[in-house]
Amino acid sequence: MSRYSRITGTGSFLPPKRVTNAELATQLAANGIETSDEWIVERTGIRARHFAEPDVGSSELGVHAARRALEAAGRQPSDIDLIIVATSTPDMVFPSTATILQNKLGIAGCPAFDVQAVCSGFVYALTVADAMIRTGTASRALVIGSEVFSRILDWTDRTTCVLFGDGAGAVVLEASDTPGLLASDLHADGKHVEILCVPGGVSGGKVHGNPLLRMDGQAVFKLAVGVLDQAARAVLKKAERTEADIDWLIPHQANIRIMQGTARKLKLPADKLVVTVDQHGNTSAASIPLALDVAVRSGKVRQGDTVMLEGVGGGFTWGAVLLDF
Ligand code: ACO
Repeated sequence: MSRYSRITGTGSFLPPKRVTNAELATQLAANGIETSDEWIVERTGIRARHFAEPDVGSSELGVHAARRALEAAGRQPSDIDLIIVATSTPDMVFPSTATILQNKLGIAGCPAFDVQAVCSGFVYALTVADAMIRTGTASRALVIGSEVFSRILDWTDRTTCVLFGDGAGAVVLEASDTPGLLASDLHADGKHVEILCVPGGVSGGKVHGNPLLRMDGQAVFKLAVGVLDQAARAVLKKAERTEADIDWLIPHQANIRIMQGTARKLKLPADKLVVTVDQHGNTSAASIPLALDVAVRSGKVRQGDTVMLEGVGGGFTWGAVLLDF
């Protein structure tokens, strides 16, 4: 009998502090940075985002999302035998956010590690967990995307600081006799490092370089639309499905225009596109599992639906996962 992996529960968590575009514009204006609700909505579709308090890190947001996913799956932390956290904003340089989160869940012993693929992190992490489950290395995984991007924003750069937010999403992925994850298609091209990066690091007790996010928005935009379409078609081909089989498209929530462009290229009606970027902003690796959980809890995504997840982000990295929920 073949062994597959299937999502059995989803969860998410947003830090309570919600900041609307108008509130952000007022805060930025105090430092001489000009922006407006109109500009942000028109160019990105974002209306609000959540920010974590200074003492709350990715492991803390992630553990709340993980507990909700466990509850939805009817599982206890002790049932879990693999933890993967996708994050670009880890609590520490090391150990991994996954090990810190494991301890917060009150469990020990199972493998726990982080995946770093920026906004593609969740589709990368899900693919790794699926492979480990199929080969029998794990049976019940927690796969989490968690970010505090507010920590790496340059508040003097209006072209980036209005785009991002904090949050976490999680799934429980379990071994199954019937396919849940149908196919995955992942890519990276390191020649595009410069268009989206945090070009800093720690060395000799000091921060070297610039530890704040830098992005060439137009270059990212152009690249994103093309590679997302390629990944979508590749994953459909691998799964021997067509566009008509997609019940829900859940792309990385970065910009409504990129998301709508991707849906249009796949000839999907607008109501098959799950949109949370308006309320969450871009939460990088957390955006896909956050949107998935919102769609599940609102009754949109139901058992048996075919869902396409698509990530794209710094590296450049991109990829898609097709699954039967
Ligand atoms: N408020 C008001 N005006 C602004 C702001 C702002 N926050 N930011 C830029 N502007 C101005 C610019 O200065 C420029 O003014 P000018 O014409 O006088 O020079 C004008 O608005 C247009 O700027 P553009 O950069 O050309 O605006 P564009 O339409 O390209 O939108 C944006 C910018 C939203 C960043 C867009 O390029 C984009 O979404 N790119 C993709 C980004 C993305 O998806 N990133 C995430 C992927 S990976 C990851 O998530 C880590």
